[in-house]
Amino acid sequence: MTLSNKPEPSTINQQLTTKSQIGIIGSGAMGAGIAQVAAAAGHNVILFDTNKTALDKAKHNLESTLKKLVEKQKLTAQNSKEITDRIQFASELMECKNCELIIEAIVENLDVKQKLFSDLENIVSTDCILASNTSSLSIASIGSACKNAGRVIGIHFFNPAPIMPLVEIIPAITTESIVTEHSKKLIDSWGKQTVLTKDTPGFIVNRVARSFYGESIRIYEEGIADFATIDWAMKTVGGFKMGPFELMDFIGNDINYKVTESVWTQFFYEPRFKPSLTQKRLYEAKWFGRKSGKGYYNYAEGAILPAPKENDELAKTIFYRVIAMLINEAIDSLYLQLASKEDLDLAMTKGVNYPKGLLKWADELGLQIILDILENLYANYAEDRYRPCILLKTMAAKGETFY
Ligand code: NAI
Repeated sequence: MTLSNKPEPSTINQQLTTKSQIGIIGSGAMGAGIAQVAAAAGHNVILFDTNKTALDKAKHNLESTLKKLVEKQKLTAQNSKEITDRIQFASELMECKNCELIIEAIVENLDVKQKLFSDLENIVSTDCILASNTSSLSIASIGSACKNAGRVIGIHFFNPAPIMPLVEIIPAITTESIVTEHSKKLIDSWGKQTVLTKDTPGFIVNRVARSFYGESIRIYEEGIADFATIDWAMKTVGGFKMGPFELMDFIGNDINYKVTESVWTQFFYEPRFKPSLTQKRLYEAKWFGRKSGKGYYNYAEGAILPAPKENDELAKTIFYRVIAMLINEAIDSLYLQLASKEDLDLAMTKGVNYPKGLLKWADELGLQIILDILENLYANYAEDRYRPCILLKTMAAKGETFY
């Protein structure tokens, strides 16, 4: 048996077209959004959930979202009706039997997902592709619950699915190449920007973005600057739309902390992804951010947000330290063939709104400068998290660029 051993024989014969019925399992934030995207692209959609209240809520939210789009003249009343008519809300899994692609967006729990995939395989035709929208579980482990793991793939949307353009396509080592091809082609036809990536923890975005949060928290923990100053530095020098602390409060410190912990443990405790006690305490105290009224900042009515210390030198120090860590991660991802350089850059600009792709940014800032920053940090702290990627070293030595 080799690593690229594929299940045989290939069973996925038919192409996915707008005539293909799409099944979405789980009608929460992600499932409902993906159902809207698929219906807007012309598919008949079966949206299934075990929880009747969740289904009712999804129906109600969809109607009010479409109503707002019509009011803003982004959609005609006719289009809105067509989208609604194309979505069938189902409370029996059996109703998905004629689907040609099913995208699962249920609770993030491996056992529950494996049981669902195994049940689905007994219902659908042998041609049906089974996809998971998981953010943190391995696609290979989900696929292992199926008799034909070759039909299982990761199709990872970002929240909110109708608005965020990026979709990560993640074939597992067991996925048939035809399944990857058909899935990518279909999601492209929905007007999304797809990037192809390997089945590794955090895929592209949730892995590469870790240092934006982690290194910023570290800078705060060392007493170099406060939250407001770090946010200000990353926005003014880096051009990021939101600073790391504003963004963590926006995402939710519960979610952001859990993703960090998951990526770190799944990478066998790689020091670059190590979570921080600062954020863990916020999580434990339920200081989740905007949604709980308090996080790194206070969002209570009338609360005054702290002002940054506007020191240009300090701002540059903060920015260069964080961007060097981000670029090192992007380079390491390229070195380990996680994705192409174009897809790595696209993922960060379209998935998390970075002002530039990190590899393009590396070229602009100069690879030698990034290497010097990391080697300095590595020498001073003697910590593995600051070790520069070998590809950065060799390219800097040869004076090469990515583009
Ligand atoms: P959610 O909690 O809003 O919705 C999950 C839904 O699945 C619920 O309505 C629940 O009733 C239903 N459900 C649970 N078990 C089920 C089962 N066995 N069969 C059918 N329905 C079942 O969750 P959310 O946020 O929509 O996430 C769903 C998936 O998408 C997770 O795997 C998550 O990691 C992933 N994801 C989430 C993102 C986010 O920002 N929320 C972004 C990208 C991926």
